[in-house]
Amino acid sequence: MELLCIQSQEHPTLPQGELKAVIECEEMECNLNVITEGLVTLDTISSQNIDEYYQILTRRLGYTHEVHQIIKTSSINDLEEDILSIKWQDYINENFAVRLKRFNSDVDTVAIERKVGSLILEKTENIKVKLNNPDSLVRLVAFKDIIYIAIEKYHLNKKHFEDIKPHKRPFFYPGSMSPKLARCMVNLSRVKAGQLVLDPFCGTGGILIEAGLIGCKVVGSDVNWKMKNGTAINLDYCGITDYRTFHLDVRELKMYEKVAGVVTDPPYGISTSTGDIEGNDIFKEFFHAIYDNMADDAYLCMASPHYVDLNPMMSEVGFELVEQYSIKMHRSLTRIISVIQKSQKK
Ligand SMILES: C[S@@+](CC[C@H](N)C(=O)[O-])C[C@H]1O[C@@H](n2cnc3c(N)ncnc32)[C@H](O)[C@@H]1O
Repeated sequence: MELLCIQSQEHPTLPQGELKAVIECEEMECNLNVITEGLVTLDTISSQNIDEYYQILTRRLGYTHEVHQIIKTSSINDLEEDILSIKWQDYINENFAVRLKRFNSDVDTVAIERKVGSLILEKTENIKVKLNNPDSLVRLVAFKDIIYIAIEKYHLNKKHFEDIKPHKRPFFYPGSMSPKLARCMVNLSRVKAGQLVLDPFCGTGGILIEAGLIGCKVVGSDVNWKMKNGTAINLDYCGITDYRTFHLDVRELKMYEKVAGVVTDPPYGISTSTGDIEGNDIFKEFFHAIYDNMADDAYLCMASPHYVDLNPMMSEVGFELVEQYSIKMHRSLTRIISVIQKSQKK
């Protein structure tokens, strides 16, 4: 069986990297096929796993807009026949809408949506078309001459990423990254629900909110007590209960339990205070402080500015780079997202 993911195209590699990380840490048995930027299918999924995998993806992903189950892969020429061959009562309860999305295709969207909608109505008893907020969404995706016929069984809550933007939380302080990037970084750290995630520069708690919402236990610490308290306020607001926060300098970090993942956005630049640590030494101090607090198979996912070379600092401590992504923020700043592990060579 197959799933189809419609992904954000705001970055060329992060959405796929995030999806791969989730497939890896959730040990999902499937094949990933990149059809084109923004369109990915997962095939060879067994019927026992399909529902569980579908729910994991909709619960976790940040840079994916929609996930659907493919009913049939068709073509422009065979579409009518294929639509008529499907037992739609298995997929639609009361009402439905048909929506088509195009990738490298110039098919007539409205004409196809109407045609397919009327073919489904013709063939199926006791169902109605409902364009706003339908019970069932029939998703057609046109790519070149192919048309994927799919159904949305579980909805990915994209609205969450709007509703939880930093200025909409009860405790606000400038410098918190977008919730989507925070979610993506949590996913890149390959943690699962129930595992412990640490952000030792927690600020307003933006990263911990996203880790908490996918079911992780979270710990945050910050050198500024106002931030430590602010994180707790924001976590409470999001209904996250399994958390602890500490007021401490990263150099004093001594965890009561080794963590399964560290996800963080260390301070840099003139606008952020680093306690009394000079310039880029904050990164060095951070690597030293974090190493013994991480489980041996834990991942660290962190942000840094392009002008800081993390490589010598991480290898000095015994870390190695797994993967890296760059996000251009403005003309003079590119943000680097690094996924790091304890070095395998001893
Ligand atoms: C870029 S902000 C983190 C933003 C956070 N991700 C959020 O969602 O708000 C960096 C944080 O590191 C904290 N910080 C600076 N120096 C520190 C240190 N030596 N030890 C621990 N925290 C420190 C700052 O107080 C600030 O809250």
